[in-house]
Amino acid sequence: MSSQDEFEDQPWLDPDAVPFISIRGVTKKFGDFVAVDSVDLDIYQGELFCLLGGSGCGKTTLLRMLAGFETPSSGSIFIDGVEMSNVPPYERPVNMMFQSYALFPHMNVEKNVAYGLKRDGVPKEEINLRVAEMLSMVELTDFSQRKPHQLSGGQRQRVALARALIKRPKVLLLDEPLAALDKRLREQTQFELMNIQEKLGVTFVVVTHDQEEAMTLSTRIAVMDAGEFEQIGSPTEIYEYPDSRMVADFIGSINMFEGRVTQNSSDHISVSGSEEDIEFFVDYGMSIKDGNKVWVAVRPEKMRLSKEPPTAKKANQIKGMVQDIGYLGDISIYRIKLASDRVIDVTVPNQIRPKDGKHVAYWEDEVYLDWDAASAIVLTR
Ligand SMILES: Nc1ncnc2c1ncn2[C@@H]1O[C@H](COP(=O)(O)OP(=O)(O)OP(=O)(O)O)[C@@H](O)[C@H]1O
Ligand SMILES: [Mg+2]
Repeated sequence: MSSQDEFEDQPWLDPDAVPFISIRGVTKKFGDFVAVDSVDLDIYQGELFCLLGGSGCGKTTLLRMLAGFETPSSGSIFIDGVEMSNVPPYERPVNMMFQSYALFPHMNVEKNVAYGLKRDGVPKEEINLRVAEMLSMVELTDFSQRKPHQLSGGQRQRVALARALIKRPKVLLLDEPLAALDKRLREQTQFELMNIQEKLGVTFVVVTHDQEEAMTLSTRIAVMDAGEFEQIGSPTEIYEYPDSRMVADFIGSINMFEGRVTQNSSDHISVSGSEEDIEFFVDYGMSIKDGNKVWVAVRPEKMRLSKEPPTAKKANQIKGMVQDIGYLGDISIYRIKLASDRVIDVTVPNQIRPKDGKHVAYWEDEVYLDWDAASAIVLTR
C-alpha cells in the first residue's frame, strides 16, 4: 500500500500531504475586541470541514476572511499555495453561501442558477448545459420553471447550493447552510450535501452551531470558543476523546465528576471522586501527578443501569435514585439523583418494546450504575 492510499480518507494524518487551505496565526480585531484569536488550521482538498461553536465565537468572521470579505488584522491565509492578502474576493477560488442566502424572487430556478455564469459572459449553450447538469445533481430538474416562493425550504436551499456550485469553485464556504430547515428536512439535506460534495470533490468549509449536524457531515471538526480553537479532530475523536471540559460538554451530553488522582501508571489512572463516593479506574495512562485535580467524564449511553446491587465493592460504579424518566422512543433517559444531590443522566436503548409500559426501573427506585474502564475520559482542563 502506498502512503497515498493509506491516507486517502484522512489526508491530515499524511505528513507529506499539502493542505489546500492554510491559516497561519490569523487574528481579527474589531477595535479592541478580538473576534478571532491567532488561529492555525490546515484544510485538505476534498474535506468537509466544520467550524463548530456557540453564537459569537468567531465562525462567520473566520469564513469571511477565507472569502476575502474581511481582512485579517494579522497572520496569513494561503489557498492552493497562494497567499491571499492581496487577492480580492472575486479572484479567489472560493464561493460563499451566506448565513441568509437570498435567491432572486422574480427569477425562476433556472435563471437563479444561471445568474453567475451569465454575468461572467459564458456562452448561452454552455450555460444551458451546466444549469441542466447542476439541477439534475440537486434533483430539481422538474422545478426549473418555478419561482422561489413556489418551493419548499429544502428546495430553496438546494437552489442556493446549485447557484453556489455552478461556477465550480474549488472551495465552497457555507455559513449555517441548513439553519432555515426543520429537523427532518435538515437531516435529509445533510445527506444530500454530503453526496454532492463527494461527487464533485469540492472542499467544503461549513459553519454550524449544531453539534449533531457537524458530527454527521464532517471529515473533521474545529470546536471554537471565544475566537480560539479548543480542539480539532474527526467526529469520533471529538466525541470519544474530548481534551477539555468545554469540548466534552459542548458535544453531546456528558456526566462530569471532579476528583483527585490516587494512582497513575503507564496503563491506568485511578481517581477518587471529590463530591461522590466513586473510585474511578480508567484504562489508559497519562502524565499527571498523584493528588492532582482532574475531571472524569462518562457519557450517559456508556453507563449501565441495574436494580441489582453489585456483589462486591468495585471501581466505576455508584448508587442513586431514579428521579425522572424521559421516554424518547428509541431510547429512554433516566435522571438519577446521587447521594451528593447531583443528578446525572443515563440512557437506555429500547431494544424491546416496553411491555405493558414496563421500564428497567421506576421513579424513586434505588438503582446501581456502572461502566467499563474503557468508557471514562480523564480531563485536566
Ligand atoms: N463588523 C463587526 N464589528 C464589530 N464586531 C463584530 C463585527 N463582526 C462581528 N463582530 C463580533 O465578533 C464576534 C464574532 O462574530 P461572528 O459573526 O464571527 O460570530 P459567529 O460565531 O458567526 O456567531 P453566530 O453563530 O451567532 O453567527 C461577535 O462577538 C461579534 O459581535
Ligand atoms: Mg455566524
